[in-house]
Amino acid sequence: MSDARNLERLALDAVSAAEAAAIAASVLIGRGDKEAADQAAVDALRTGLNAMAMRGRIVIGEGERDEAPMLYIGEEVGSGEGPEIDIALDPLEGTSLTAKGMANALAVVSFAPRGGLLYAPDTYMDKIAVGPGLPAGVINLDLSPSENVRAIAKAKGVSPEDICVCVLERERHEHIVADIRSVGARVMMIPDGDVNGVISTTIPKTGIDMYVGQGGAPEGVLAATALRCVGGQMEARLFFRNDDERARAAKTGITDLDRKYDLSELASSECLFVATGVTPGDLVDGVRRSNGHVSTETLIMQSAGSIVRHIKTTRPE
Ligand code: FBP
Repeated sequence: MSDARNLERLALDAVSAAEAAAIAASVLIGRGDKEAADQAAVDALRTGLNAMAMRGRIVIGEGERDEAPMLYIGEEVGSGEGPEIDIALDPLEGTSLTAKGMANALAVVSFAPRGGLLYAPDTYMDKIAVGPGLPAGVINLDLSPSENVRAIAKAKGVSPEDICVCVLERERHEHIVADIRSVGARVMMIPDGDVNGVISTTIPKTGIDMYVGQGGAPEGVLAATALRCVGGQMEARLFFRNDDERARAAKTGITDLDRKYDLSELASSECLFVATGVTPGDLVDGVRRSNGHVSTETLIMQSAGSIVRHIKTTRPE
């Protein structure tokens, strides 16, 4: 069976797994305990993944085996029968958003045939991304944010003032924000959640043209799988704060620590991206409860055919 067909057959079970993670985490929304919210999502996602008919292996997970007892990198999940699948996941993308009851927290998981995802270490990553419909090569991580703004504006036939860039609100990004504003472009700051930030470049109603900044490398690979499904562009480079982080990269088999990755290297094959809303957001609604029922909304993107689906589910609680 083809890779695309294998992934398509897993889609509904993948939705169930992500829904379960989101529902479990949602109980902790606004309770100020991000660790508990994350743990609830991890437990539920793991159970869901283990019910899937696949020989799954986690390549982007909760951390290395010695620091993450569940969903660690290298853990095998699934029924043990079926296709060999590599999995990138973030059971709760936006732990702080959930703990504080803020928008855009997601349960996220991506699937690809074995070897189809970059085995990124749990370090930082510099990222730049745009949605579909722009000429290939329009963004370049080695140029300044303002030069990228100008290139996008030119490609869109608008002026830099018409361009809006999403940036994680961090002290380390102050120079990026100043540089973007120096050419008149707007900056949309987000408190957390750069998977959501990158994907928002693909959704016209968000008004966001570009994402730029430094966030988690695992989140970078997850976002790349989504972009691969809908045809955006992304460039990324790992960023290391110390030798321990460099050693983590070496462990994953990365030899060129300065390498710039493009989308086809971050997610190199067919893939399936699934995200269920925990709190209400731009991509999907959050978990809602009423009359003894719980409702969820899940975004599913599949690279084969560039198909995007939204699944709304209601079940008794
Ligand atoms: P959590 O889900 O662990 O809270 O991470 C959210 C997040 O904002 C990611 O989306 C992003 O990649 C990363 O944290 C940024 O890291 P930092 O908070 O250290 O700047």
